[in-house]
Amino acid sequence: MEKAKRAAGYRAADMILDEDRIIGVGTGSTVAFFIEALREKNLMHGRMFVASSLDTALKLREMEARLLDLSTVDHVDVYIDGADEVDAEGNMIKGRGGAHVREKMLAYISRRNIFVVDESKLVGKLGGKPLPIEVLPNAVSHVLKALRSMGLNASIRSSRCKDGPCISDNGGVIIDLQVGVIEDPEGLEARLLRIPGVVDTGLFIGYVDRLVVGMRSGEAVVKEFKRRRGLL
Ligand code: 5RP
Repeated sequence: MEKAKRAAGYRAADMILDEDRIIGVGTGSTVAFFIEALREKNLMHGRMFVASSLDTALKLREMEARLLDLSTVDHVDVYIDGADEVDAEGNMIKGRGGAHVREKMLAYISRRNIFVVDESKLVGKLGGKPLPIEVLPNAVSHVLKALRSMGLNASIRSSRCKDGPCISDNGGVIIDLQVGVIEDPEGLEARLLRIPGVVDTGLFIGYVDRLVVGMRSGEAVVKEFKRRRGLL
């Protein structure tokens, strides 16, 4: 899928407008191609970047990008990010990289949202991949109990580099839910956010303006959506 991810990342770079001064940057391997394209197409100069994760901040710093902290901005001109699954309405599951809380904040404050995926991410209905939620550390026990009492299969994501839970850049614990086919994304989101201590979910509903789908052939197809959420 490298070729497809690359096609999507590079095509998204072509969508950066001259007037885009502040660019939000998501997390993941497809976004890494977008960052590479920014440099190759000489699009870094005169622009500032807001990273959704430490991983992305470090990648941008390698290129001597000017970084702004998320806490100091109330908008970005355009936000580019990847996704784990996208349905026909542009609803998504995100968070394989554990960065979905900051990613959603950036998608919320962005004037344009462009998501970049390879064609394997397109699904009829969401739910084939785990749905992550981020939880405050002192809420983990009761959140797990609440999720299980709702009949959801929930497990704490394990860290790959140390014993114990995967801790996000915000200090939250990532819990993965195996939910199966999600018939009602908004209903599920509302039920999850009702549990005290849940910071946010990996469900991104109504945030896409443009979806760039990279194909195995190396081409990229662009789909337009009517965005429904955000500080527009
Ligand atoms: C990180 C994310 C990523 O955008 C998502 O997992 C897609 O990653 P990749 O482009 O590597 O497939 O949500 O939290």
